[in-house]
Amino acid sequence: MTDNPTVYVTRTIPEVGLDRLRERFEVVVRDEKLPPTKDHVVSRLAELDAEGLVCLLSDEIDAAVLDASPDLSVVSTFSVGCDHVDLAAASARGIAVGHTPGVLTETTADLAWALLMTCARRTVEGHAYVADDEWETWGPTLLTGPDVHDATLGIIGLGNIGTATARRAAGFDMDVRYSGRSRKPEREDELAEFGIDATYVDRDELLAESDFVSLHVPLTEATAGLVDEAALRRMSEDAILVNTSRGEVVDTDALDAALATGEIARAGLDVTDPEPLPADHPLLRHAPERLVVTPHIGSASTETRNEMAEMVAACTEAGIDGEPLPHSALRDAGME
Ligand code: DGY
Repeated sequence: MTDNPTVYVTRTIPEVGLDRLRERFEVVVRDEKLPPTKDHVVSRLAELDAEGLVCLLSDEIDAAVLDASPDLSVVSTFSVGCDHVDLAAASARGIAVGHTPGVLTETTADLAWALLMTCARRTVEGHAYVADDEWETWGPTLLTGPDVHDATLGIIGLGNIGTATARRAAGFDMDVRYSGRSRKPEREDELAEFGIDATYVDRDELLAESDFVSLHVPLTEATAGLVDEAALRRMSEDAILVNTSRGEVVDTDALDAALATGEIARAGLDVTDPEPLPADHPLLRHAPERLVVTPHIGSASTETRNEMAEMVAACTEAGIDGEPLPHSALRDAGME
């Protein structure tokens, strides 16, 4: 051990971030596949007298964790979403919180489109059909699905990722609608530059009129269960739901029922509730005909994950140095 401040990292992140941290700090990485228990994090922070904590979205960072080491000055999460961090508790203790906004916007929008396209054009089913040796001849109605071009895309939550997802619709001549807490003229202008006339509508109207509904809201008390039984009932029976935000935004039981009764056509989920989704979960009986699930890989491009690692390292450095964080979750939440 050196006299350098100690940073505890709950799971391995890309080497580029760890290398940067190692230049200045004693870095202790918990090299395990599964997340640690909260008690484990608390005891490691205390044993190490850690000044910095690098965590993932699968770690719950509450008051007990924040109080574990008296020297803890910064928590940097390898995610843009901070619903797993008690921001108010961190702010009350003067502990800075870093996160990774911006960098994963385009990558996550790419995945929203991957799910949208795969649900519409049934590529996962197509692969299974071939692999299962069912492909005997070309078929006039084999694996038909809706057109993506000229369809209506409904974006719930026109933030960074919602806007990036909407922007991609320009290549498909889609009609774009969005809903959210308020109209966003600056986002509409941004999209207009790409030839998209994004119309702000009431959420019920968006649900009723969209061929594809893509969710891009952060998880808050207001958005938990936002897509519930009533919302799913409003959607067209040909509609496809895409979720790359947080699993809890969709009521899983309601979605299960909607897929079973054909209230909506299909769903593409990168996030689930529960997460991870166990292989014997009832929802998976719909796959792949009505459901495609990926394991929360929205930001999983090599470039983006490397940049995220650099960002958490930069936030950790700034926090330990007592400098303003380059990407502060408290500032972004208006708590700084
Ligand atoms: C995030 O960062 O919040 C994503 O869900 C994972 O990258």
